[in-house]
Amino acid sequence: MSYLAKNYNRKKISFKYGKGSFLYSVDGKKYLDFVQGIAVNSLGHAHPKLINAVSKQSKKLWHVSNAFQIPEGEMLAKKLVKKTFADYVMFQNSGAEATEAAIKIARRYFYSIGKRKKNRILCIKNSFHGRTLAAIFASGSKKMTEGFGPKVSGFDHFEFGNHKSLTKKISKNTAAIMVETIMGEGGIKVIPDWCLRELRKICDKKNILLILDEVQCGIGRSGDFFAFERSKVKPDIVPIAKGIGGGFPIGAVLMNKKAASGMTAGTHGSTFGGNPLAMAVGNSVMDIISNKRFLNNVKNISKYFFLKLNQIKNKYPKVIREIRGKGLLIGIQLHSDQTKFIKKLMDNKLLTIRAAENVVRILPPLNVKKSEINQSIKIIKKVCSGLN
Ligand SMILES: Cc1ncc(COP(=O)(O)O)c(C=O)c1O
Repeated sequence: MSYLAKNYNRKKISFKYGKGSFLYSVDGKKYLDFVQGIAVNSLGHAHPKLINAVSKQSKKLWHVSNAFQIPEGEMLAKKLVKKTFADYVMFQNSGAEATEAAIKIARRYFYSIGKRKKNRILCIKNSFHGRTLAAIFASGSKKMTEGFGPKVSGFDHFEFGNHKSLTKKISKNTAAIMVETIMGEGGIKVIPDWCLRELRKICDKKNILLILDEVQCGIGRSGDFFAFERSKVKPDIVPIAKGIGGGFPIGAVLMNKKAASGMTAGTHGSTFGGNPLAMAVGNSVMDIISNKRFLNNVKNISKYFFLKLNQIKNKYPKVIREIRGKGLLIGIQLHSDQTKFIKKLMDNKLLTIRAAENVVRILPPLNVKKSEINQSIKIIKKVCSGLN
């Protein structure tokens, strides 16, 4: 008998401990974990530097209110600003909170300059920005919003990859365009760099703020610190979460001066957001991931992984339709439903997770070893050959 609410269809497996890329189940089995809490444990399980950061800080100070100065948070904000487009950072606890805060920041900016009707947010249909009321209506998926009315208004939608549908949906009241740079839950769909540049141009022309949701694809996951970096586009607002905490719940919104200008004292807050314990871990994660050599390793291992996966795709074209993604945010798109495939991978001790459009999502830790990639390739090949 479980007293947990039934909002998850949990697999009948639980784990005793984890180390790096591996999870060890209570019944003594060892799994290669290419879920990593859905792109959360960016440095794998039980990373010694993160253990050290948490234990050191836990003996000093866990929590103080944001009514006081928090030096650990000041330090992480400074690192994020120095590394990115941003001028300011606001800490939260999760991705959904960060995307909601991003929406608030955009609306508040136009309010503060007297454009009070300019408050609509334009998003991609069937995207994913979290599970709060505003975030599900921002995502615009029937599955997520059904039964949760009344509808949260203020969101418009366009189709992924459809420029015409995008321009048609922009009105004089559009405050922001909010998209995931790489759609995670939506099926690992990458917005091409030229599209990001077009988005920026449209936003500049029409005085619209550009919000790039990097909750899943940010913090090194794409091989760059942010997935939009190679496009040279500078967004106005970027919500992050998942990877920056390495397993500790942290969310944040990065923003430029313009976007931040409406957020005066009292306009937003969070009891837990940016507390010393979270910030100690965030600083450690940041120090490791923001290193150029670390990010180059992610790029190199990703190149190798994609090469191997495409070789499997070419050998089993009836099973695999496409290999998608960037860096270590990878999707194997099948021709049919992926449930059986994921189950077979798991029977062979490789953990993966689904995404939309028959996609098997693969999210190794960013410090994954080549031997571990090889191990996963062997398992994926075996499962493909069994299904061929
Ligand atoms: C792109 C994106 N935005 C927002 C969220 C919501 O994050 P959280 O589950 O931490 O609220 C997610 C979670 O998967 C996500 O992938």
